[in-house]
Amino acid sequence: MSPEPSATLVRRHLKVGWTSLLLFMLLGLVLEGLHAFKVGLYLDGDLEARRLMWTLSHAHGDLLGLIHLAFAAHLSRLNLSERESEATSSLLLAATVLLPGGFFAGGLVVHGGDPGAGVLLAPVGALALIAATAICTRASWRQ
Ligand code: HEM
Repeated sequence: MSPEPSATLVRRHLKVGWTSLLLFMLLGLVLEGLHAFKVGLYLDGDLEARRLMWTLSHAHGDLLGLIHLAFAAHLSRLNLSERESEATSSLLLAATVLLPGGFFAGGLVVHGGDPGAGVLLAPVGALALIAATAICTRASWRQ
């Protein structure tokens, strides 16, 4: 017998949420190490853009991990249709790759004070996150 669709979604978002938290907290630890050992490729004055991009990647990856866990915890009470649940799930997954991934990619190669082209993925991820949040907001007012 196949599990309830919502049970499958809850499991998916628990896995993705905890995994994102683990990965992006580890990135925070790496950033701490770069500070501790005064690593030039992170701290040099002309690489300010890299430091900003990787800090934003760390912070947004952590926060998205928490959002996945909140979605998993509240899915059964949100009164979403199956189509809305699936759409929200896909949008959250896309945001988790594109938003912190875009910031991280933007910091890999920087051009003076500007981040690399990878940062263009971040606003696409932001739109996906806003769309997922809008679906949940609408459902929460409907109950
Ligand atoms: C093991 C856990 C964590 C470690 C080791 C860690 C480490 C760090 C480090 C070293 C920075 C500064 C980076 C820099 O400025 O060069 C930072 C910034 C930040 N972290 Fe974390 N972090 C952790 C967990 C979290 C979590 C769970 C969140 C959010 C839910 C978070 C949110 C932020 C934010 C918003 C900033 C930017 C602060 C600012 O620049 O004003 N961090 N973290």
